[in-house]
Amino acid sequence: MNVRVRPLKPSDLAAVSRIERRITGSRRTSSLVRNLRKYLATGDPGSCLAAEVEGRVVGFVVGEIRPWEFGEDREVGWIRVVGVDPDYQGKGVGRALGERLLRYFRTKGVRRTRTVVEWDAGDVIAYFRTLGFERGDGITLEMDLR
Ligand SMILES: CC(C)(COP(=O)(O)OP(=O)(O)OC[C@H]1O[C@@H](n2cnc3c(N)ncnc32)[C@H](O)[C@@H]1OP(=O)(O)O)[C@@H](O)C(=O)NCCC(=O)NCCS
Repeated sequence: MNVRVRPLKPSDLAAVSRIERRITGSRRTSSLVRNLRKYLATGDPGSCLAAEVEGRVVGFVVGEIRPWEFGEDREVGWIRVVGVDPDYQGKGVGRALGERLLRYFRTKGVRRTRTVVEWDAGDVIAYFRTLGFERGDGITLEMDLR
């Protein structure tokens, strides 16, 4: 299967929304999709990629280079979200997206990359491990403010 990875464009947002809803099983448009248009204009568009198969967007990744972070003396490349259409999973699309993003981070001088995944998302963790990620020392803390 020929996978073409290219920059994500505002016109891809409907496809991103479709893929995300298929993965999550939700009918709601998420804050990711609502905010992505602005992020593409003001954030780090080089970190946002789409994967096409036969002209159809079947996957995406949204990253970010954070210029400073506690305990770090240089930028950290974060992978904020990655998603592949369930019909196209397991065919190398996620690997193509991930490797391209890591290459981008390296060209920008980034020496460390991070992501946060659910502890029980074994498939996503397996995917990140194949890219070279290992469990870090940090833990995430969160709190419901309602
Ligand atoms: C995780 C995900 C991005 C992987 O993309 P993909 O296109 O299916 O993955 P690929 O086919 O490119 O596989 C890449 C590697 O990951 C591994 N992998 C992918 N899915 C896996 C799974 N379900 N179980 C175990 N390993 C898996 C493969 O073994 C492969 O390794 P290899 O290249 O050495 O053979 C995709 O399955 C997905 O979108 N899942 C839902 C994502 C999600 O919940 N996102 C929200 C959190 S960010």
